[in-house]
Amino acid sequence: MRTELFIGGDWMPGSGSDQIEVTNPATEAVIAQIADGTPDDALAACDAAAAAQLGWAATPPRERAELLRGAWRHLIDHTDELATLIVTEHGKPMADARGEVAYAAEFFRWNAEETVRLRGEIGIAPSGANRFIVHHPPVGVVAMITPWNFPAAMITRKLAPALGAGNAVVIKPPREAPLTALRVADLLDEVGFPPGAINVVPTSTSGAWFDVVADHRAVRMVSFTGSTEVGRLLLKKSADRVLKTVMELGGNAPFIVCADADLNAAVEGAIVAKMRHSAETCTAANRFYVDAAVADEFTERLAIAMGEIKVGSGLDPDTGCGPMISAQAVTEIDGLVKGALEDGASLALGGSPLDRPGFFYPPTVLADVAHGSAITTAEIFGPVAPVIPFTDIDDMIAQANDTEMGLTGYVYTDDLAVGLALSERIQAGMIGLNRGAVSDPATPFGGMKQSGLGREGSTEGIYEFCETQYIATNW
Ligand code: SIN
Repeated sequence: MRTELFIGGDWMPGSGSDQIEVTNPATEAVIAQIADGTPDDALAACDAAAAAQLGWAATPPRERAELLRGAWRHLIDHTDELATLIVTEHGKPMADARGEVAYAAEFFRWNAEETVRLRGEIGIAPSGANRFIVHHPPVGVVAMITPWNFPAAMITRKLAPALGAGNAVVIKPPREAPLTALRVADLLDEVGFPPGAINVVPTSTSGAWFDVVADHRAVRMVSFTGSTEVGRLLLKKSADRVLKTVMELGGNAPFIVCADADLNAAVEGAIVAKMRHSAETCTAANRFYVDAAVADEFTERLAIAMGEIKVGSGLDPDTGCGPMISAQAVTEIDGLVKGALEDGASLALGGSPLDRPGFFYPPTVLADVAHGSAITTAEIFGPVAPVIPFTDIDDMIAQANDTEMGLTGYVYTDDLAVGLALSERIQAGMIGLNRGAVSDPATPFGGMKQSGLGREGSTEGIYEFCETQYIATNW
């Protein structure tokens, strides 16, 4: 297990003496102590990235692509080890963790293919007097701040396109789950990325870390996944140096079930949209708007299906829902559930933290939730499904859009035309139409409104890590 900082191709203890304790949320046991990066360490990482930047940018695209493809293979070859690490520090079920490794690795394979296909343009001036050339050089050193809910994939979704485009990077992995990031850096080092192209500095003092990094002259971009609250702070600080930003922020996804929907498929999709990765995803279904004609039946079926999910350690192959990340997360989820009950909802399943070691909250279904209750405005980030019956489509769409968030939405109906029309009316960057999962490296991941800026993945993702330069010619 790597517990040091990765700077300039070397593992080092860091300039301070503090350590970060990493806890297994299923047992509450401390599983590792890692170096706590100081602002000086962050500065050293930026210097190392700056030193690597020009050489890496000048490396032929094919060579960069081969390294990315090697990274895909190497991560896949270490699936068992990485998945176990993810389960141990995050808590998600093993099947989800293995899925995460495949997802994380795929960003390298996808971007290996994009790296050799970065396109420019040659245009003719409208007067016909001359031509112009448009091309896309790398943006420069990129700072990346990644969340604990996908300890591997939220790094590689940024890292692979950034490297493919020719940028060196400085990564701050999550304090709660940094071990996977350190091991991923180790594996990428084995693949042969040049020293300084990838730097990883965990820290418990995120604000001081970011102040130093954002002020470093070589840093030209910030890519962040996390809460809207933190995203706003990073945007404000980034404005001081007019840094390019990509922000993947919070969600509050509506999951709409029309009266004509196949309820078996809708419940199956609801379980995926709600429960994948222990219900700790920003794409998670947060509010279930169900036509009143089928709301009771949907709620009952959902409660039965959620009740069959085994809660426990992610290492147990039968587990379908692991622990939450912290005791505080459990308290917050429980507060939202209790608040909804006080506002008139009724409990169809679950509803109280489990009395056992570890940060466990059971799958919970709430019926007859009032739109506007705090549970419909907060991002739950836990295994709780609030069902809100509706009778009028237009009112329901207004409620679904009655949020500053706009990351994901889900629609279930048997009528494709209705489904497409409803999808287009939802103010969200990603829609699952009769599908409970939207995430795919080949598609543009990102949100509208306060859910973010920019897109990750697809053919767009790599261009986020590029500048656009145009050269006017005299021919
Ligand atoms: C996230 O929760 O931030 C990402 C979810 C995903 O990629 O599916």
